[in-house]
Amino acid sequence: MDIAVIGTGYVGLVTGAGLADFGNDVICVDVDEKKITALKEGNIPIYEPGLDKIVNRNVNEGRLQFSTDLREAIRSSRAIFIAVGTPPKPDGSADLRYVEEVARTIAQHMNGPKLVITKSTVPIGTGRMIEKILSESGNEFHASVLSNPEFLREGSAIEDFMKPDRVVIGASDKESIALMKEIYAPLHSLEIPFVVTNVESAELIKYASNGFLATKISFINEIAVLCELIGGDVQDVARGVGLDSRIGPKFLQAGPGFGGSCFPKDTSAVAGIARRYGYEFQIIEAVLRVNDNIKQRMVGKVTKALCGNVQGKTIGILGLAFKPETDDMRDSPTIPLIHGLQKQGATIRAYDPQAMDNAGKIFKNVTFCRDAYETAEGVDALVIATEWNEFRALKLERIRGLLKQPVIVDLRNVYDPQRMKSEGFTYVSVGRRDRA
Ligand SMILES: NC(=O)c1ccc[n+]([C@@H]2O[C@H](COP(=O)([O-])OP(=O)(O)OC[C@H]3O[C@@H](n4cnc5c(N)ncnc54)[C@H](O)[C@@H]3O)[C@@H](O)[C@H]2O)c1
Repeated sequence: MDIAVIGTGYVGLVTGAGLADFGNDVICVDVDEKKITALKEGNIPIYEPGLDKIVNRNVNEGRLQFSTDLREAIRSSRAIFIAVGTPPKPDGSADLRYVEEVARTIAQHMNGPKLVITKSTVPIGTGRMIEKILSESGNEFHASVLSNPEFLREGSAIEDFMKPDRVVIGASDKESIALMKEIYAPLHSLEIPFVVTNVESAELIKYASNGFLATKISFINEIAVLCELIGGDVQDVARGVGLDSRIGPKFLQAGPGFGGSCFPKDTSAVAGIARRYGYEFQIIEAVLRVNDNIKQRMVGKVTKALCGNVQGKTIGILGLAFKPETDDMRDSPTIPLIHGLQKQGATIRAYDPQAMDNAGKIFKNVTFCRDAYETAEGVDALVIATEWNEFRALKLERIRGLLKQPVIVDLRNVYDPQRMKSEGFTYVSVGRRDRA
């Protein structure tokens, strides 16, 4: 199938490369000329493990191309995936301007029957809105509008795309559904479940999934607060809870609150959608409040570890991305953490294996370091903010020698409190009985 993927970001590029790997002929389009030039020169503009390999393979085998020419991509394709950003507006709702812009361009240049598929996470009703733009354009050709939300996780995006738990297809006609199954043929033959439903339900599945996962995280983060108050250990509690097969162990790791490009914006968006329909989505509203509180608590945790005052102190931050194995800084919990500490007069040194370029666009007055050891030099406290593997195996003796005071605040519960005590650290983590 000839496919255009519009928007070549984290989702569009993985989708384009993945669909090409399935045997389709794919053209990935973006308005960002720098991005497309880089891709044409064989450079991957984001950090995503394994992405370079699959992109290069499909480019070399002639199934994957890159372009800024949206018109031509529309004309040469039977199926058009919309994978542009849907960032949050100041009121928390999804900004659909890029989706609308693409829909209008498709309407203008359609030269035959098309499948128009939203991969972007979009509010319920967006499919209908795209349909309206296309049908009212006066173009003589018909387009079927489908929803095919994406569930990949940054950091394991290729694996998630190639072996998803399910493929969700929202469509209203049999022919479109059959064509989608053709596009995803290898997954169909792997017996990956296909959930075929109407467009509105497919759009809601994406928000409901992210809302539920975010709820699990906020839930365990509140359990961690309780553990700190009653003297429990959140990791033991999470294990005891997660072994219940009705609950499951995933997304029960206490930490500094959820971040990233999806959970915060999608939970805000679904709360807003409910409100617009006259309903208060109470659980999601609470999840958002809890997440904000948890992020602020982390600032308090660091301050408390330094006897309640960070004024004039230097703090080292290990990890800046919202999670390991990505360079994505969008809504990372390290943003309120660093801003909060700076506001109280702290000086920040920081290191992340991949996210420092993006972090440099967000933070002011942060000294970016070469590695964990340089970050630790002369700081009053070292904070583990993102659990990159290289922070799991720090040479603790060396770190202790570099720190001004042997204080470690581990917001990802990477280390064992008892071991840290025996190594001579004042060690603070999340929801555990820390020993100093
Ligand atoms: N990042 C994730 O982990 C993830 C997972 C699932 C779903 N999603 C959803 O997928 C969508 C895209 O997310 P992303 O993280 O890839 O965003 P992104 O910001 O990385 O990429 C979006 C791309 O779209 C391009 N673009 C904007 N307007 C355009 C236009 N008119 N024509 C062509 N290109 C245009 C931008 O230049 C950018 O490169 C969002 O709706 C997001 O919620 C993201």
